[in-house]
Amino acid sequence: MKGRIFSGVQPTHTLHLGNYLGAVRNWVRMQKEYECIFCVVDMHAITVFQDPAELTKNTREVTAAFMASGIDVSHSIIFAQSQNRVHAQLAWILNCVARVGWLNRMTQFKEKAGKDRENASVGLYTYPVLMAADILGYRATHVPVGEDQKQHLELARDIAQKFNTDFGVECLVPPAPVIGGPAARVMSLRDGTKKMSKSDPSDYSRINMTDDADTIALKFRKAKTDPAPLPGLEVLDEKGFVKAEADALRPEAYNLMAIYAALSDQEIGAVIGAYEGKEFSAFKRDLTELAVSVLGPIGAEMKRLLDHPAEIDAVLSRGATKARAISEPILTEIERAVGFLPA
Ligand code: TRP
Repeated sequence: MKGRIFSGVQPTHTLHLGNYLGAVRNWVRMQKEYECIFCVVDMHAITVFQDPAELTKNTREVTAAFMASGIDVSHSIIFAQSQNRVHAQLAWILNCVARVGWLNRMTQFKEKAGKDRENASVGLYTYPVLMAADILGYRATHVPVGEDQKQHLELARDIAQKFNTDFGVECLVPPAPVIGGPAARVMSLRDGTKKMSKSDPSDYSRINMTDDADTIALKFRKAKTDPAPLPGLEVLDEKGFVKAEADALRPEAYNLMAIYAALSDQEIGAVIGAYEGKEFSAFKRDLTELAVSVLGPIGAEMKRLLDHPAEIDAVLSRGATKARAISEPILTEIERAVGFLPA
């Protein structure tokens, strides 16, 4: 094994194609090389008010998405953050290590809190410290995250280093980021300059992992494109990526081609080569067929699991037991380093 991976997803919504191609699918592949811990971060979710029944439903749904995508729970751990109290306890200690100045620099807080910062929850402010606790509580060596989480990961490293220096120990292991491959960015089907997102008001902007074949077909048919035929290989740079100038002119077209490439595990150049000069309508038909062949079975298995919530809950509960077994001794070491007496 190359190390221990920890990653988390907030149960604030149903997962979409961007989450699948950008995260979950890579996790499934990494299971062979790493010991993996995947956490449904419900405690992060409540930094913004969540309807309790929705939170429960979404926690199960994200778990079902992991399982249906091929996370093998006999090897990897899936659990909900709140099911292991170590996260909250360690977060408190780390809150006392992290500096206000460090948190004030977090760009995601500024974005999420918006103009009315006084009215944001304190939890939203210390969110990155809880994330540091998630990672450091397991001595995770590698953390796969999107671009938007890189700053939080840097903070986790800073907290680990300051803790070790302050207490003269080597207790905490600064984690390394694992940034996803080129497939990591899936854009909105309605606006190729915006990321595919759960918070876009239009459901036509995204493909949800639970969408059925007809819905997938409809969404790709309605996906924004332009009247020109599909581009040729001249739009690629020497590394095989679409040149920025070309992408800026036809972001929707290249997004669909990138989705096709990711779903079929090819370089985008292979897709562009195959469809050069063809009509969008033909390409969209093939893309739909491909997407349905990949997502159809996953969506179907998710539905089956969601009809059997006890199966999902049992997986989470077994995962939480394993998660506690790893993190409790680490927390104990940390508590001794701080000078807390055993209970
Ligand atoms: N903050 C991450 C996000 O919103 C989710 C997350 C919480 C996470 N804890 C984590 C990711 C630990 C990686 C490791 O995407």
